[in-house]
Amino acid sequence: MNILLLGSGGREHAMAWKIAQSPKLSTLYIAPGNPGTATVGTNLPIAADNFPALKTAVLNYKIDMVVVGPEDPLVKGVVNFFAEDADLKNIPVVGPDRVGAQLEGSKDFSKQFMFRHNIPTAGYLSVTAGNITEGIDFLKSLQAPYVLKADGLAAGKGVLILSDLNETISELKAMLDGKFGAASKTVVIEEFLEGIECSVFVITDGKNYKILPEAKDYKRIGEGDKGLNTGGMGAVSPVPFANAEFMQKVEDQIIRPTVEGLYSEGIIYKGFIFFGLIKVKGEPFTIEYNARMGDPETEVVMLRLKSDFVDLLEGVAHGNLNEKMLEFDERTAVTVMLVSGGYPEEFEKGKVISGIESIEDSIIFHAGTTEKEGNIVSSGGRVMAISSYGNTKDEALAVSFSNAQKIQYEGKYFRRDIGFDL
Ligand code: AMP
Ligand code: GLY
Repeated sequence: MNILLLGSGGREHAMAWKIAQSPKLSTLYIAPGNPGTATVGTNLPIAADNFPALKTAVLNYKIDMVVVGPEDPLVKGVVNFFAEDADLKNIPVVGPDRVGAQLEGSKDFSKQFMFRHNIPTAGYLSVTAGNITEGIDFLKSLQAPYVLKADGLAAGKGVLILSDLNETISELKAMLDGKFGAASKTVVIEEFLEGIECSVFVITDGKNYKILPEAKDYKRIGEGDKGLNTGGMGAVSPVPFANAEFMQKVEDQIIRPTVEGLYSEGIIYKGFIFFGLIKVKGEPFTIEYNARMGDPETEVVMLRLKSDFVDLLEGVAHGNLNEKMLEFDERTAVTVMLVSGGYPEEFEKGKVISGIESIEDSIIFHAGTTEKEGNIVSSGGRVMAISSYGNTKDEALAVSFSNAQKIQYEGKYFRRDIGFDL
């Protein structure tokens, strides 16, 4: 079959790499892709949210299935666009529709959903300009630190965790005043949960689900988890503290109620659900949902997936995921992200990258790269994910760190302590 994958980051290169290994694949197209995806498929110069141009490509290239990487096209309704188009409606799209994508697109929607289905999560109050006094009273009833979240998508910047009450109140007002544009017209105030986080991924056809390997990502720019939040600086799978007992609780208290809850509400959710979890005194709580796979978690999850990924994707498309095989690689997989100097604040792009061909034993996933005059150059904050296997995390990390040294570009930075807390 011909598959079109939407997106252009490290997550998409990792998915493309795995899809390309399937005996079921004829041609893989990626829109828009990156120089990494171009090594395993054919890039199409189409933005992932340019739906009319995607339609033309899907018909031209006889695409049998579309797989959506990032959240943006999902929240904008790419699934609805296909379902409502006479020429496209029989072409399955792996990803939730606009309503299902609200699990990620609206924190208020996801908190209400979790409360309706008794899914463990932090206590909260949603605040708009209309009930700001109630919001301030709620903040006063909580202990520091305080958690404020813009309701809508804010490019990963919409969550503030603050220790001072007065500062929190001013930030709340600033957010409601449009600090994050329309995304913070509603703000979710949450109780702070203290624990250790991990990411759990589920693939679902709307009724049946399969749990993919869990992973832990490292969000802060600095070693020891210090400094500003980033898109993710590295990941490790498996996660030792996500043991069988914990994962059973996650499935019983969080995953199954979520999939059943969506179904019972008439939300036909076909795609990935990313559960951002926190383990508090042995118990799992849901910090957030995402309507897609994680990045850089996918760069380790795909390494640990032994089964044919396309076969699983077909199970989603055809509603028979329960008949599909899911097998994991027992080894540990890690990824170390090389980023641009200055990221996540201002950074320069266009740095020529060398040394890629010297890499052995790691799989390089391109995240923010582009091709310019025959060179691979940096084009984003997160540049490349160096993924490796090992019998232990330390073994795998040693390979990634050693290969991270071999790739050269001006301003290269990476965290040398990925996995330090496991
Ligand atoms: P989110 O975008 O909702 O995942 O939030 C971003 C990050 O903020 C999470 O990965 C957590 O580290 C942190 N965070 C969010 N909500 C809470 C909470 N209720 N308690 C503690 N930390 C939180
Ligand atoms: N790694 C976190 C995310 O993809 O949102």
